Amino acid sequence: MMTAQIPTHVPVLLQEVLDNLMLPPAARVLDLTLGLGGHAEALLTRADAEARYLGVDRDPEARTLAAQRLGGDPRLSILACAYEDLWNDLDFLAWRAAKAPEGFDAILADLGVSTLQLRTPERGFSFRDAGPLDMRMDPEHGLSARTWIAEQTDESLADAIYQYGEERASRPIARAILRALREGRLDTTQDLARAIYTVIPREPAKRKGHSDPATRTFQAIRIAVNGELDRLAASLEAAVAVLRPGGRLAVISFHSLEDRIVKQTLRRLAGIYDGPGRTAPTELPKVLKLIHAGGIAPSEAEAATNPPSRSARLRVAERLL
Ligand SMILES: C[S@@+](CC[C@H](N)C(=O)[O-])C[C@H]1O[C@@H](n2cnc3c(N)ncnc32)[C@H](O)[C@@H]1O
Repeated sequence: MMTAQIPTHVPVLLQEVLDNLMLPPAARVLDLTLGLGGHAEALLTRADAEARYLGVDRDPEARTLAAQRLGGDPRLSILACAYEDLWNDLDFLAWRAAKAPEGFDAILADLGVSTLQLRTPERGFSFRDAGPLDMRMDPEHGLSARTWIAEQTDESLADAIYQYGEERASRPIARAILRALREGRLDTTQDLARAIYTVIPREPAKRKGHSDPATRTFQAIRIAVNGELDRLAASLEAAVAVLRPGGRLAVISFHSLEDRIVKQTLRRLAGIYDGPGRTAPTELPKVLKLIHAGGIAPSEAEAATNPPSRSARLRVAERLL
């Protein structure tokens, strides 16, 4: 793996996360997406010596770099796990029983990909540099993007591109991708981008200042390969279940599909009914209080200095009972 030019990941909405996750003495913190440890470093700076911080990530490279960055802080434990699988993981249960038997004061989920993943061509997330068509956040498990694509039909691939990428040209794009695969022209991320550009040419979009036409399809395939939305609602519910009363959950999402799931889940757990009709058929249990009902977007200054933050939205909720 090439590590010479590893970028740093600038933590998104950092001040807003710090302001909303106020840590009591001896705080217990669960970070579901440790990444390169940017939020963790800032939170640990605010926490006292009795605090305990559990950082979870499914990406082995991120865990190694976070461990290097946080320099053996004795308050920090790092766990290799996908957060969907965390709740029954024996190491997690043991850690919790030993260090956070009363639950967590703060839980953070900073969803999606890290700059490290996007900018390391070998990981196969980016259409800017040629890399193998992989896109797995945990390269040791699951199907690579190429293998996943090879298992799709025109219809199933188009459906995924439409659903997860909100791409209107999903059908011709799916056909172009599977044609490139059949003709032996689909091995790298740039091969995938080229197949997309046969449907939506790159130059006109660029001239008009639009995002690269490959962006939406890459996002869709990444979400499908990593099952990113599959168990998000259930994971948030499981996270709320391990919060202490008064503890807070902060979730940062990066696209509208993800944010919709976060918003609907937190609203439901706050006893707010969003279904058809005026009232819920059965009373919803109210275990959360929403803080900033509309969510928090990055400031203009942050969006200007850290463009990946532009689409971010932070939602915060507090456990009631
Ligand atoms: C946006 S980055 C987090 C950055 C981090 N907050 C920081 O400041 O450095 C998202 C991280 O979540 C990890 N991740 C994504 N989905 C995951 C999942 N289902 N389970 C565990 N980790 C996941 C990715 O591997 C990535 O490292």
